[in-house]
Amino acid sequence: TPKGTCLESVKIAIDTGYRHIDGAFVYFNEHEVGQAIREKIAEGRIKREDIFYCGKLWNTCHPPELVRPTLEKTLKILQLDYVDLYIIELPMAFKPGDVIYPRDENGKFIYHETDLCATWEAMEACKDAGLAKSIGVSNFNRRQLEMILNKPGLKHKPVSNQVECHPYFTQPKLLEFCRQHDIVIVGYSPLGTSRDETWVNVSSPPLLKDTVLNAIGKKYNKTAAQIALRFNIQRGVVVIPKSFNPQRIRENFQIFDFSLTEKEMKEIEALNKNVRYVELLM
Ligand code: A2P
Repeated sequence: TPKGTCLESVKIAIDTGYRHIDGAFVYFNEHEVGQAIREKIAEGRIKREDIFYCGKLWNTCHPPELVRPTLEKTLKILQLDYVDLYIIELPMAFKPGDVIYPRDENGKFIYHETDLCATWEAMEACKDAGLAKSIGVSNFNRRQLEMILNKPGLKHKPVSNQVECHPYFTQPKLLEFCRQHDIVIVGYSPLGTSRDETWVNVSSPPLLKDTVLNAIGKKYNKTAAQIALRFNIQRGVVVIPKSFNPQRIRENFQIFDFSLTEKEMKEIEALNKNVRYVELLM
């Protein structure tokens, strides 16, 4: 995003009432997010404890000895003392180093063999040190979650798993598994993400054009986006909609003044196509 866009957007979001901010080192805007939070604290609008900031451990930093220094780097960029949640961004590891997407001469990703359980133990140590209030994972399937949950000597289990989740990809099985284990699902791309062909599977139709979502929206005087968000929060899935547009940032927050009927929830659930927009082909 152009310089300053993220700073402005986060400040508008906080003024609107958002408190959960989903970030990552690889978004390369943590300095702007941190500045927005600090400015709003200085203004007296919020206190640090009102904000819930989620940071992420990137693929090149899975070796256990890199976990704490990586989080410390994020805290330095944010200029904050702790993150509320720190998560392993992806279950696969890349070759450690300064190159974020390391590739060989044939353009293939250079992976790195690490033990996710050892990475998790380093995450636990970050929580024990107070650098992260809670720890979790992202893009983990059931088997990968079970590896952590069944780890001998597990000290802290993952509190959340951030995965793609919206009416065209409702995640019924993973959601049920996570419910059983008290793991919160945080749904990314809750609006069906952007239509950027460089990383989005655009063969799946745009979510917000869906006729069912739009028809239900009409009834409540809401947009398809608001219906898609309401659907997830009403079934206990946290949503992290992304927008850099002030009007849409506000629109995405106006979802607490109505509720969908059971029949409407079922109708929306039936839209599931089991197709991802974010295929993560790596
Ligand atoms: P913009 O930043 O111009 O608002 P997701 O949260 O699923 O990743 O989707 C993000 C995409 O959806 C962005 O391209 C964003 O563009 C767009 N978007 C965000 N909120 C809305 C909304 N209320 N209506 C339509 N598009 C939206």
